[in-house]
Amino acid sequence: MPSEPVTIVIFGGAGDLARRKLLPALYNLFIDGLLPSPIAIVGAGRKALDDAAYREFARDGVKRFSRREIEDGRWYAFAASLHFVNVDLEANGAMASLGARLDTIEHEGGLPGNRVYYLAVPPSVFVPTIEALARARFVAPGDTRPFARVIVEKPIGHDLASAREINDAIAAVFEETQIFRIDHYLGKETVQNILVLRFANGFLEPLLNQKYVDHVQVTVAEAEGVGTRAGYYEAAGALRDMVQNHLLQLLTLVAMEPPRALHAGAVRDEKLQVLESLRPWTAADVDALTARGQYVSGYEMGEPVAGYTAEQGVSPTSRTETFVALQVFVDNWRWAGVPFFLRTGKRLPKRASEISIQFKEAPPILFNADPEARLAPNVLAVRIQPDEGFALRICSKVPGPRDNIYPVNMDFRYSSAFGSPSPEAYERLLLDVIHGDATLFMRRDSVEASWRWLMPLLERWGESSETPLPTYPAGDWGPPEADRLIEATGRRWRPL
Ligand code: BG6
Repeated sequence: MPSEPVTIVIFGGAGDLARRKLLPALYNLFIDGLLPSPIAIVGAGRKALDDAAYREFARDGVKRFSRREIEDGRWYAFAASLHFVNVDLEANGAMASLGARLDTIEHEGGLPGNRVYYLAVPPSVFVPTIEALARARFVAPGDTRPFARVIVEKPIGHDLASAREINDAIAAVFEETQIFRIDHYLGKETVQNILVLRFANGFLEPLLNQKYVDHVQVTVAEAEGVGTRAGYYEAAGALRDMVQNHLLQLLTLVAMEPPRALHAGAVRDEKLQVLESLRPWTAADVDALTARGQYVSGYEMGEPVAGYTAEQGVSPTSRTETFVALQVFVDNWRWAGVPFFLRTGKRLPKRASEISIQFKEAPPILFNADPEARLAPNVLAVRIQPDEGFALRICSKVPGPRDNIYPVNMDFRYSSAFGSPSPEAYERLLLDVIHGDATLFMRRDSVEASWRWLMPLLERWGESSETPLPTYPAGDWGPPEADRLIEATGRRWRPL
């Protein structure tokens, strides 16, 4: 798709996200010839860096985190588009000096002034930055040229009211078509493939409903602990950090109806329908159908690791959950009565994310007649990471004179099928913003629908501040409550 020359302004340009994800993604897009030309990438932030120092900072990030290695010749061509402007977003007149510098860069680079503003900054600075952009007249309306677009990183709020406040503040300056709310899971190849798997294969879609599906599991497991992010995580916890966005987005992709077209409006309309069909929480359901926990010291890959409350920046009395498991229902015709089990946590035994759709058992006759030796039901497992791919578990006869039956996997792996490593999520997402395609971004209504659905749960959890929070040793699959939650329904978590 041809794209127009653009200036990408990264607020928080010398921060961790820029170094680990954004600059490496832009470099890979450049190598693939996918970036428009000319282009300017302008980091803006408090650090006192000049262009040369910023290029070094970017090189270091690319060297460490890029999917592809640095090729010197290409690097210098890419680095020529990198600039840095020292601004303190909270200071008066910050935007004026940034504006003057952007004008010069654009004038010298022959750029028309199309701009993408990336807010890679702490949430407390979102709204002041947006307001400053408006005051400095950096934002032209809607689809005019030169265009202005804004990318907002999560978290968008910590509850419904604060999400609305942020959305209102952005909407006062940008139209919805100019706003790109990132959920980086939507940029992952395997996640994009969910819709392809469902709607490009005629055999599967007729089976994905309450007639044939027993239940669905969505697991996003991380081996890492909270690391250096306690400042943010302490006030967030796993429910806000992972479920409100990533897990619910995965659920919508599995559960949504076929969209009438593949454009942003149609796809996002269908995803919204799923969020709006989620069964509302009652206090009794919160007590029975949710489990949370916090990791205590344990072992990760054989190495002893500290518990959450001993992590740097975490309160010793913290009640922040680092693990969540939920049983939820999508109360519509297709999914009536089918439980969706969601779980996510930090310091679990490994990094593994998977969606598994477990089908109903074969009828209890013929090969499945023995109640003591039930056949394993079919499972379609979509491995999001690592070892990307999917597998279909089916029953097969073991060769030999007896009718022994054994479950086998029909397995697809990206690595063997397509060879080269898949692009990083941020590559696709940045490219889509440059093209103005919002399909893989969260629309305001769906962000607010997720929060609206979670509010009674958050409130109920907030009431029980006296009861001790369940714990799990680092390196375990969460607290025993998580097993009880699924086992109470006669099912089990699928081993990963
Ligand atoms: C982020 C969360 O959105 O996703 C982090 O804030 C989490 O806490 C991360 O570690 C996981 O992303 P990925 O791509 O590594 O699975």
